[in-house]
Amino acid sequence: PLVKDLFGLTDWEERIRSRFGLKQVVIVPGDSEASPHTKKELGRAGASVMRKLVKEEEVIAVTGGSTMAEVANQLNATASMKSCWFVPARGGLGESVDLQANTIAATMAKKAGGRYRLLHVPDHLNDEAYQSLLQDDHITEVFHFIRKARMVVHGMGDAMVMARRRKVDPETTASLQREGALAEAFGYYFDRSGRILHKMPTVGLRIEDIHDMDTVIGIAGGRGKGEAILAVLRYGHEDVLVTDEAAAAEIVQLL
Ligand code: BG6
Repeated sequence: PLVKDLFGLTDWEERIRSRFGLKQVVIVPGDSEASPHTKKELGRAGASVMRKLVKEEEVIAVTGGSTMAEVANQLNATASMKSCWFVPARGGLGESVDLQANTIAATMAKKAGGRYRLLHVPDHLNDEAYQSLLQDDHITEVFHFIRKARMVVHGMGDAMVMARRRKVDPETTASLQREGALAEAFGYYFDRSGRILHKMPTVGLRIEDIHDMDTVIGIAGGRGKGEAILAVLRYGHEDVLVTDEAAAAEIVQLL
Protein backbone atom coordinates (compact mmCIF):
# COMPACT_ATOMS: atom_id res chain seq x y z
CA PRO A 1 0.00 0.00 0.00
CA LEU A 2 1.07 3.56 -0.80
CA VAL A 3 1.08 4.96 2.74
CA LYS A 4 3.36 2.16 3.89
CA ASP A 5 5.81 2.71 1.06
CA LEU A 6 6.01 6.39 1.94
CA PHE A 7 7.42 5.37 5.30
CA GLY A 8 9.74 2.81 3.68
CA LEU A 9 8.12 0.09 5.79
CA THR A 10 7.93 -2.43 2.96
CA ASP A 11 11.69 -2.18 2.60
CA TRP A 12 12.19 -2.77 6.34
CA GLU A 13 9.82 -5.74 6.24
CA GLU A 14 11.92 -7.36 3.54
CA ARG A 15 15.22 -6.60 5.28
CA ILE A 16 14.10 -8.19 8.54
CA ARG A 17 12.39 -11.07 6.73
CA SER A 18 15.44 -12.06 4.71
CA ARG A 19 17.92 -11.48 7.55
CA PHE A 20 16.14 -14.05 9.76
CA GLY A 21 14.70 -16.29 7.04
CA LEU A 22 11.12 -15.56 8.13
CA LYS A 23 8.04 -16.38 6.07
CA GLN A 24 6.53 -12.95 6.59
CA VAL A 25 7.09 -9.65 8.38
CA VAL A 26 4.31 -7.10 8.84
CA ILE A 27 5.07 -3.59 10.11
CA VAL A 28 2.26 -1.20 10.99
CA PRO A 29 3.01 2.57 10.99
CA GLY A 30 3.46 4.31 14.37
CA ASP A 31 4.50 3.48 17.93
CA SER A 32 2.15 1.21 19.87
CA GLU A 33 3.82 2.15 23.15
CA ALA A 34 2.75 5.77 22.70
CA SER A 35 -0.46 5.36 20.72
CA PRO A 36 -3.45 3.16 21.61
CA HIS A 37 -4.52 3.49 17.98
CA THR A 38 -1.26 1.91 16.76
CA LYS A 39 -1.62 -0.85 19.35
CA LYS A 40 -5.07 -1.62 17.90
CA GLU A 41 -3.58 -1.67 14.41
CA LEU A 42 -0.91 -4.07 15.64
CA GLY A 43 -3.68 -6.29 16.99
CA ARG A 44 -5.58 -6.04 13.73
CA ALA A 45 -2.50 -7.00 11.70
CA GLY A 46 -1.87 -9.93 14.05
CA ALA A 47 -5.45 -11.15 13.73
CA SER A 48 -5.28 -10.91 9.95
CA VAL A 49 -2.06 -12.97 9.80
CA MET A 50 -3.68 -15.63 12.00
CA ARG A 51 -6.74 -15.74 9.76
CA LYS A 52 -4.60 -16.22 6.67
CA LEU A 53 -2.35 -18.94 8.06
CA VAL A 54 -4.79 -20.98 10.12
CA LYS A 55 -5.81 -24.46 8.97
CA GLU A 56 -9.11 -26.26 9.61
CA GLU A 57 -9.51 -28.01 12.98
CA GLU A 58 -6.27 -26.57 14.28
CA VAL A 59 -5.20 -26.24 17.91
CA ILE A 60 -3.81 -22.71 18.36
CA ALA A 61 -1.67 -22.01 21.41
CA VAL A 62 -1.57 -18.41 22.58
CA THR A 63 0.26 -16.43 25.26
CA GLY A 64 -1.06 -13.59 27.37
CA GLY A 65 -0.18 -9.90 27.42
CA SER A 66 -1.75 -6.62 26.41
CA THR A 67 -0.74 -7.01 22.75
CA MET A 68 -2.33 -10.45 22.52
CA ALA A 69 -5.43 -8.97 24.18
CA GLU A 70 -5.68 -6.56 21.22
CA VAL A 71 -5.23 -9.42 18.76
CA ALA A 72 -8.06 -11.26 20.51
CA ASN A 73 -10.33 -8.21 20.21
CA GLN A 74 -9.78 -8.07 16.47
CA LEU A 75 -10.48 -11.71 15.67
CA ASN A 76 -13.67 -12.66 13.88
CA ALA A 77 -15.41 -15.84 12.86
CA THR A 78 -14.27 -17.32 9.57
CA ALA A 79 -15.01 -20.88 8.50
CA SER A 80 -11.58 -22.21 9.49
CA MET A 81 -11.38 -20.19 12.71
CA LYS A 82 -14.70 -21.65 13.81
CA SER A 83 -13.29 -25.14 13.58
CA CYS A 84 -10.28 -24.31 15.78
CA TRP A 85 -9.43 -24.81 19.43
CA PHE A 86 -7.73 -22.03 21.37
CA VAL A 87 -5.47 -23.00 24.27
CA PRO A 88 -2.98 -21.21 26.51
CA ALA A 89 0.62 -21.94 25.53
CA ARG A 90 1.69 -22.20 29.16
CA GLY A 91 0.16 -22.09 32.62
CA GLY A 92 0.17 -19.18 35.08
CA LEU A 93 3.11 -16.79 34.83
CA GLY A 94 2.08 -14.27 37.45
CA GLU A 95 0.04 -11.99 35.18
CA SER A 96 -3.15 -10.21 36.19
CA VAL A 97 -6.34 -11.98 35.05
CA ASP A 98 -7.04 -9.84 31.99
CA LEU A 99 -3.52 -10.45 30.68
CA GLN A 100 -3.40 -14.20 31.30
CA ALA A 101 -3.08 -16.67 28.44
CA ASN A 102 -6.24 -18.46 29.65
CA THR A 103 -8.24 -15.24 29.31
CA ILE A 104 -6.83 -14.53 25.85
CA ALA A 105 -7.58 -18.09 24.67
CA ALA A 106 -11.17 -17.86 25.91
CA THR A 107 -11.71 -14.42 24.34
CA MET A 108 -10.26 -15.58 21.03
CA ALA A 109 -12.51 -18.63 20.97
CA LYS A 110 -15.53 -16.44 21.65
CA LYS A 111 -14.61 -13.92 18.94
CA ALA A 112 -13.70 -16.60 16.41
CA GLY A 113 -16.68 -18.79 17.18
CA GLY A 114 -14.30 -21.61 18.08
CA ARG A 115 -13.70 -23.69 21.19
CA TYR A 116 -11.17 -23.53 24.01
CA ARG A 117 -9.48 -25.59 26.71
CA LEU A 118 -7.91 -23.92 29.73
CA LEU A 119 -5.04 -24.79 32.05
CA HIS A 120 -5.84 -24.13 35.67
CA VAL A 121 -2.52 -24.13 37.43
CA PRO A 122 -1.30 -21.75 40.11
CA ASP A 123 1.61 -19.38 39.50
CA HIS A 124 5.05 -19.61 41.09
CA LEU A 125 5.08 -23.37 41.67
CA ASN A 126 7.81 -25.01 43.66
CA ASP A 127 9.36 -28.15 42.26
CA GLU A 128 7.41 -30.54 44.46
CA ALA A 129 4.06 -28.96 43.61
CA TYR A 130 5.02 -28.96 39.95
CA GLN A 131 5.82 -32.66 40.01
CA SER A 132 2.54 -33.57 41.68
CA LEU A 133 0.56 -31.40 39.25
CA LEU A 134 2.09 -33.39 36.42
CA GLN A 135 0.48 -36.49 37.95
CA ASP A 136 -3.00 -34.99 37.88
CA ASP A 137 -5.23 -36.61 35.24
CA HIS A 138 -7.12 -33.51 34.20
CA ILE A 139 -3.93 -31.42 33.91
CA THR A 140 -2.15 -34.13 31.90
CA GLU A 141 -5.12 -34.42 29.58
CA VAL A 142 -5.20 -30.69 28.83
CA PHE A 143 -1.44 -30.68 28.64
CA HIS A 144 -1.46 -33.39 25.90
CA PHE A 145 -4.14 -31.47 24.07
CA ILE A 146 -2.02 -28.29 24.11
CA ARG A 147 0.91 -30.18 22.67
CA LYS A 148 -1.18 -30.94 19.57
CA ALA A 149 -0.89 -27.26 18.63
CA ARG A 150 0.77 -26.64 15.27
CA MET A 151 0.44 -22.86 15.53
CA VAL A 152 1.57 -20.65 18.40
CA VAL A 153 0.89 -16.94 18.63
CA HIS A 154 2.84 -15.03 21.25
CA GLY A 155 3.79 -11.65 22.64
CA MET A 156 7.35 -10.55 23.43
CA GLY A 157 8.51 -8.24 26.15
CA ASP A 158 11.49 -6.47 27.63
CA ALA A 159 13.00 -8.83 30.24
CA MET A 160 13.12 -6.41 33.15
CA VAL A 161 9.68 -4.94 32.43
CA MET A 162 8.22 -8.44 32.40
CA ALA A 163 10.09 -9.56 35.54
CA ARG A 164 8.68 -6.55 37.39
CA ARG A 165 5.14 -7.02 36.03
CA ARG A 166 5.16 -10.68 37.06
CA LYS A 167 6.71 -10.00 40.47
CA VAL A 168 9.63 -12.34 39.87
CA ASP A 169 11.54 -12.81 43.16
CA PRO A 170 14.48 -10.43 43.87
CA GLU A 171 17.19 -13.11 43.55
CA THR A 172 16.02 -14.26 40.13
CA THR A 173 15.61 -10.65 39.01
CA ALA A 174 19.15 -9.83 40.15
CA SER A 175 20.60 -12.83 38.35
CA LEU A 176 18.67 -11.99 35.17
CA GLN A 177 20.09 -8.49 35.33
CA ARG A 178 23.62 -9.77 35.96
CA GLU A 179 23.45 -12.15 33.01
CA GLY A 180 22.15 -9.47 30.67
CA ALA A 181 18.54 -10.60 30.18
CA LEU A 182 16.99 -8.56 27.41
CA ALA A 183 13.86 -10.32 26.23
CA GLU A 184 11.05 -12.47 27.49
CA ALA A 185 8.67 -14.72 25.59
CA PHE A 186 6.49 -17.66 26.81
CA GLY A 187 8.02 -17.29 30.28
CA TYR A 188 11.56 -17.78 28.92
CA TYR A 189 14.20 -15.07 29.34
CA PHE A 190 16.80 -14.45 26.61
CA ASP A 191 20.04 -12.48 26.38
CA ARG A 192 21.13 -10.24 23.49
CA SER A 193 22.30 -13.16 21.37
CA GLY A 194 19.05 -15.06 21.85
CA ARG A 195 20.45 -17.51 24.40
CA ILE A 196 17.98 -18.75 27.05
CA LEU A 197 18.97 -17.62 30.54
CA HIS A 198 16.00 -18.69 32.59
CA LYS A 199 12.59 -20.31 32.34
CA MET A 200 9.66 -19.66 34.63
CA PRO A 201 8.44 -22.91 36.18
CA THR A 202 4.97 -23.76 34.96
CA VAL A 203 3.27 -26.39 32.83
CA GLY A 204 2.38 -26.22 29.14
CA LEU A 205 4.53 -25.96 26.05
CA ARG A 206 8.25 -26.33 26.43
CA ILE A 207 10.57 -24.38 24.23
CA GLU A 208 11.38 -27.60 22.29
CA ASP A 209 7.69 -27.89 21.39
CA ILE A 210 7.92 -24.46 19.81
CA HIS A 211 10.82 -25.61 17.60
CA ASP A 212 8.56 -28.26 16.07
CA MET A 213 5.58 -25.98 15.34
CA ASP A 214 4.45 -25.35 11.76
CA THR A 215 3.78 -21.67 12.42
CA VAL A 216 5.24 -19.46 15.15
CA ILE A 217 3.83 -15.93 15.07
CA GLY A 218 5.44 -13.27 17.29
CA ILE A 219 3.53 -10.02 17.82
CA ALA A 220 5.11 -7.06 19.63
CA GLY A 221 5.77 -3.38 19.03
CA GLY A 222 6.74 -0.12 20.69
CA ARG A 223 9.95 1.88 20.83
CA GLY A 224 11.15 0.11 23.96
CA LYS A 225 10.83 -3.39 22.51
CA GLY A 226 13.16 -3.33 19.48
CA GLU A 227 16.13 -4.97 21.19
CA ALA A 228 13.92 -7.55 22.89
CA ILE A 229 12.30 -8.54 19.60
CA LEU A 230 15.71 -8.78 17.98
CA ALA A 231 16.91 -11.11 20.76
CA VAL A 232 13.92 -13.42 20.20
CA LEU A 233 14.54 -13.35 16.43
CA ARG A 234 18.14 -14.37 17.13
CA TYR A 235 16.87 -17.34 19.12
CA GLY A 236 15.80 -18.39 15.66
CA HIS A 237 12.43 -20.13 15.78
CA GLU A 238 10.00 -17.47 14.56
CA ASP A 239 8.11 -17.78 11.26
CA VAL A 240 6.16 -14.55 11.21
CA LEU A 241 6.83 -11.22 12.92
CA VAL A 242 4.11 -8.59 13.34
CA THR A 243 5.50 -5.33 14.72
CA ASP A 244 5.28 -1.56 14.43
CA GLU A 245 7.40 1.19 12.92
CA ALA A 246 8.98 2.27 16.23
CA ALA A 247 10.28 -1.20 17.10
CA ALA A 248 11.26 -1.93 13.49
CA ALA A 249 13.31 1.29 13.35
CA GLU A 250 15.38 0.04 16.28
CA ILE A 251 15.68 -3.45 14.80
CA VAL A 252 16.95 -2.33 11.37
CA GLN A 253 19.40 0.04 13.03
CA LEU A 254 20.88 -2.85 15.00
CA LEU A 255 21.02 -5.34 12.09
C1 BG6 B 1 3.05 -12.23 27.92
C2 BG6 B 1 3.73 -13.26 27.12
O1 BG6 B 1 1.88 -12.64 28.46
O2 BG6 B 1 3.03 -11.03 27.19
C3 BG6 B 1 5.12 -12.79 27.10
O3 BG6 B 1 3.68 -14.55 27.70
C4 BG6 B 1 5.27 -11.38 26.56
O4 BG6 B 1 5.88 -13.69 26.40
C5 BG6 B 1 4.27 -10.44 27.14
O5 BG6 B 1 6.55 -10.90 26.86
C6 BG6 B 1 4.17 -9.12 26.43
O6 BG6 B 1 3.18 -8.34 27.04
P1 BG6 B 1 2.61 -7.01 26.44
O7 BG6 B 1 1.61 -6.55 27.44
O8 BG6 B 1 3.79 -6.10 26.34
O9 BG6 B 1 2.03 -7.35 25.12
